[in-house]
Amino acid sequence: MAVQINPSILSADFARLADEARAVEGADWLHVDVMDNHFVPNLTLGVPVVESLAQATGTPLDCHLMIENPDRWAPQYVEAGASSVTFHVEAAAAPVRLAREIRAKGARASMALKPATAIEPYEDLLPELDMLLVMTVEPGFGGQAFLDIMLPKIRRARQLIDKHGLQLWLQVDGGVSATTIERCAEAGADVFVAGSAVYGAQDPADAIRALRGQAETATARAAWACDH
Ligand code: DX5
Ligand code: ZN
Repeated sequence: MAVQINPSILSADFARLADEARAVEGADWLHVDVMDNHFVPNLTLGVPVVESLAQATGTPLDCHLMIENPDRWAPQYVEAGASSVTFHVEAAAAPVRLAREIRAKGARASMALKPATAIEPYEDLLPELDMLLVMTVEPGFGGQAFLDIMLPKIRRARQLIDKHGLQLWLQVDGGVSATTIERCAEAGADVFVAGSAVYGAQDPADAIRALRGQAETATARAAWACDH
């Protein structure tokens, strides 16, 4: 699987979202952080903004729902135009049913783990998913420092994916930058969310190219990628 770079619009100028989406057209996906001020202590945007963004950009939307009760709300994000919808397993009442519903509505289904949530209890659920998100910061805010202690979880997640021969993508989100992306790629991640590292750069498109180059080089020398 090729490396994918997903800039997070959490670090963009919210008054100019359409322009900010266009500034990263070399991106594989646009990462859209939805926060409800309950699951995380921050509030961002909801269905109407996602609907407008989907009209404003040709880049597919990767919606990361940091909200309570995703069982109720996630399907609406598919209807709003998101091509991938990520729910947090800590918040989902019925993650298998929810993943199936997201897929049935035509989007990729993805499940996120907060830093303190282990992957092992969810091994049997992996075939129900198109992507697994391992958070590398506590969700809620952009610009936080990358948690190195998540690297072993990324490695274990990659082993489980390979053990079952799944095509599942492995995403990392939080503190991903020029100084941390290679470690993530070596550990087994193949989809990289970057907020401040892209939108904080002078030229966001350039920052995407540089991050992609670093991730590709690190993946090429990673043991996990040899048989892919
Ligand atoms: C954090 C969000 C991230 C955030 C990442 O809770 O899920 O997507 O935008 O921002 P950086 O890359 O600045 O850590
Ligand atoms: Zn996110």
